[in-house]
Amino acid sequence: PSEVFAPRRNSQGFAMTDIVALEPLRQRLAALETQSFTAAAIVGGERRQGTAQARFSPIDLKRQIGTLVATDAAAVEQALNLADAAQDDWAATTAASRATLLDKAADLLEARQDEFLWLLSREAGKTLPDALGELREAVDYCRFYAHEARRLMGSAIALPGVTGESNELRLTGRGPFIAIAPWNFPLAIFLGQVTAALAAGNTVIAKPSRRTPLIGMRAIEALLDAGVPANVLHYLPGESGGLSDKLLGDHRVAGVAFTGSTGAAWKINRTLASRDSSIASLIAETGGLNAMIADSSAHVEQLIIDVLMSAFNSAGQRCSALRILLVQDDIADQVISRLGLAMQELRMGDPLQLSTDVGPTIDTLSQRDLKAYCDKLAGTAKLIATTPLPAELAGGCYFAPHAFEVSLDQLPTVETFGPVLHVARFKGDALADAVHRVNKLGFGLTMGVHTRLDSTVDVVRKLAKVGNLYINRNQIGAVVGSQPFGGEGLSGTGFKAGGPHYLLRFACERTLTINT
Ligand code: SER
Repeated sequence: PSEVFAPRRNSQGFAMTDIVALEPLRQRLAALETQSFTAAAIVGGERRQGTAQARFSPIDLKRQIGTLVATDAAAVEQALNLADAAQDDWAATTAASRATLLDKAADLLEARQDEFLWLLSREAGKTLPDALGELREAVDYCRFYAHEARRLMGSAIALPGVTGESNELRLTGRGPFIAIAPWNFPLAIFLGQVTAALAAGNTVIAKPSRRTPLIGMRAIEALLDAGVPANVLHYLPGESGGLSDKLLGDHRVAGVAFTGSTGAAWKINRTLASRDSSIASLIAETGGLNAMIADSSAHVEQLIIDVLMSAFNSAGQRCSALRILLVQDDIADQVISRLGLAMQELRMGDPLQLSTDVGPTIDTLSQRDLKAYCDKLAGTAKLIATTPLPAELAGGCYFAPHAFEVSLDQLPTVETFGPVLHVARFKGDALADAVHRVNKLGFGLTMGVHTRLDSTVDVVRKLAKVGNLYINRNQIGAVVGSQPFGGEGLSGTGFKAGGPHYLLRFACERTLTINT
């Protein structure tokens, strides 16, 4: 590892095995159950007023957790005006001063831990370990991009020149950025996009998913409370009147950081390309059709643990999640039978209960789509198992994990965003063919391999077109700074979030030559 990474430490988080420390946390979270938040646009530091609509939790659709005042057209225009006007001054601040603000925001997120854990559980349906993981990731992004701003933008690079001439190259902000965040990581990915753009010297208009405006609001308030100037960062929640098209079509927007579906990324790309103005930078992180390959040397117990974690953790609502398990035929019967038994043991329930393995999906639409997909697949594929779904969860958006056995010719071609696993067998001499089949699906995000053979690792390493390859472990939960995350092909543009090149996509290079 390079020396410049040494001083930064990842967030400590919380030891889930420390029962003594966990009980007070559980009690504090229980005391927060009556909380209610109101999200509204924040433009120039002012919260917009308007008619508020009730927001309900995916754990129980009758349970109100807050209200939302949707963004109006005037707020969009004002945010664009202010972000544009503030750009030059913000870009002229030192990287060190911007980094200090982001470090302070990281401290505030940690100090507000309980509230974020509660919101992540109640608005996004995250289990407590998932919520803790996400909060840590959000804190890590703040500190990581602060560190990266100091490293990459702290000083100009001196370049050679003839006698009497000096040359230097430096990075500076590009201009106002739009951050468009997903609902599945409403805190970490949202803040990752926003803090990278800010660190590089760009003003930001942040648009959360319409499904998670409450978390987004508290995330932006942490940055503003840390001292990010009110005219530099604006928050626009709620879909109304073509908000995205208005933002993306505006000639002042210099870049977009987007995480979401591949289809939405194409649409954004087309909108940006149709503007008769500067060519905007698009950083898109999109979907995945992620596979895990297990050959006959795999350690089956470890494999099953990692399959459950990769496919069903977060109710399968991670872009990194495992969708296709390819098992060499010698061990396939054993793996399928053990997987079926293990799935019976998973517990579905309230995500804040420590006994819960799988929480709800994000909303009824998602629940309905998953059911329709599985009903259809059951017509052509063999159901291996589902996890028992307790009757008392009927009022929420729960969908039980499902695993199906499919043939190699029946691999899914579109991403199904939930706890649905496809299992297929491959023959002992067909490892390369298995990898080629996955490559042909066009996505390129994560892949897992379970093997004790170096030769298998070598083949997959050489052939797999994926951004993140994990050997003999689960394939989710990339750690900022250690496992830069992001894909290729239909999975995104790169550079990778939490990696040493990410900030470059948010910056311009300027060369200065002086004849002395
Ligand atoms: N970064 C997350 C993970 O690695 C997915 O979005 O699981």
